[in-house]
Amino acid sequence: MFKKEIISLIKKQGLDQSLIEAPKDPKLGDYAVPCFTLAKKYKKSPAEVAKSLKEKLKPSKSIEKIENHGPYLNFFIKKQILNKSIIETKPKTKKIKKTIVIDFSSPNIMKPFNIAHLRSTMIGNSLYKIHKHLGYKVVGVNHLGDWGTQFGKMIYAFEKWGNKTQLKKDPINYMLKLYVKFHNQAEKTPKLVDKGREWFSKLEKGDKKARLYWKQFKELSVKEYEKTYKRLNVKFDSWAGEAFYEQYLESTVKELKRKNLLKESEGALIVNLKKQNLAPCLIKKSDGSTLYATRDIATAIYRAKKYKFHKNLYVVDVRQSLHFQQFFKVLELSGYKWAKDCEHISFGMMNFKGLVMSTRKGRVVLLEKLLDESVDKVLKIIKKKNPNLKNKKKVAEQVGIGAIVFWDLSHDRVKDITFEWDKVLDFEGETAPYIQYTHARACSILRKAKNNYKPDYNKLIDEKERNLIKHISLFEESVQQAAKQYKPHVLAKYIYELAQKFNEFYNRCPCINIDDKQLSKARLNLVRKTKDTIKQGLELLGIDSPKEM
Ligand code: ARG
Repeated sequence: MFKKEIISLIKKQGLDQSLIEAPKDPKLGDYAVPCFTLAKKYKKSPAEVAKSLKEKLKPSKSIEKIENHGPYLNFFIKKQILNKSIIETKPKTKKIKKTIVIDFSSPNIMKPFNIAHLRSTMIGNSLYKIHKHLGYKVVGVNHLGDWGTQFGKMIYAFEKWGNKTQLKKDPINYMLKLYVKFHNQAEKTPKLVDKGREWFSKLEKGDKKARLYWKQFKELSVKEYEKTYKRLNVKFDSWAGEAFYEQYLESTVKELKRKNLLKESEGALIVNLKKQNLAPCLIKKSDGSTLYATRDIATAIYRAKKYKFHKNLYVVDVRQSLHFQQFFKVLELSGYKWAKDCEHISFGMMNFKGLVMSTRKGRVVLLEKLLDESVDKVLKIIKKKNPNLKNKKKVAEQVGIGAIVFWDLSHDRVKDITFEWDKVLDFEGETAPYIQYTHARACSILRKAKNNYKPDYNKLIDEKERNLIKHISLFEESVQQAAKQYKPHVLAKYIYELAQKFNEFYNRCPCINIDDKQLSKARLNLVRKTKDTIKQGLELLGIDSPKEM
């Protein structure tokens, strides 16, 4: 709004300038126009341009004064108008007619939902919400790992050692047990691997018994995952997993052949990527079975047709980088222009004090256990700190899960992170509990306040007030930044700073029980706006904001 006014003011001087920044230091004004490009055009120094513009431009409707500061031209908006607009207006989102496909979570069925999938789930979920907020059409896909040789292994293992009752009782853990057993036995008797392969080949050929097993394993797994998604409040628009694309695999392989991309190598079919400095992309094994990459190629082609995506994102850990480079290259070599719109949103590993996870060896940190432990710990803290709180269990669930999610999302996704309870649950640190507590505090102030006066925003002149207002005004920008880099931590940092700035403001500026009721009302409205912004920000990260805690 104010940017437009500034642009038109400058335009009246016959100048075209659309870049407008927000000075870091509020003392330097609310908006700043850098004069570097204008300086080049007029062959003067930026400072000279800023100075001459300052002399020519007259304050207008919302602008109180204009100053030049080095190469910048700084604009001060009338406080009442600026504060009112930040505190009282709700920004509307525009609809953007572009579709973003986000492939996230995508666990391999028959295996427990582990912490690596938590990262994908939370980062993906947040990117989903962030893009929705910005007005995009978003399609969240859970590309289940429901196809591949591991099913052959499991069918073999179940045929040999399986027990139906135990399977029904605790499906995923039981399947994991069988999986671990298979691998232990296969170390002694390598022939078992062939047996597994045979079963998978049967499955691919549509063998009835094999299909029936597969269906059962899949349904039992998905049922379990759904419990976790419900707890995390995560939803998908599509559950089309690897098996879904089986029907498209033959035509995909044919297409690659037609485009002259396939080479035979030791009986297998590959796409040579030597020129691209990549290892070859394996399309078909010598026994005729297809691979993860084959299915991903078919998937991308399907998505391009169905969704006509602007971006097709894959939120998957860094260990799969090569896989994505390879099949993106194959798509590019196939002549698909949209190949450049496919992106691997890679993330680092979450470590637990020296524990290296491996499903095959049975060393996994189970997500459900981790969530439960967090909720328990929070419940204990709440019982101590706020024994009279109603709904303790529900709040503990919101805070306990929020803490883990925020810990994950507050780190730059590309980095490895280490999980430490003391840090994750630090009510005074850069954590969800700290932010949620701040939110609850704001709610409690508003509950106590009774004030029907007209707010006087001119009176919000304290440095802490100005810092807070300024920070609130940057919310949309931070969401956009997070979207642009596909990095929710940009937003997480923003919200943490917002909570900090709020607490600084609140410690200095009393909101209730002061004589100046117009000032009190202005501050209360600022509290409300902060509260709403925190809530909205946390929501974009997939975290709840309890009103009391
Ligand atoms: N199921 C895979 C895994 O857990 C992740 C799948 C990611 N998505 C994809 N289209 N490749 O490792």
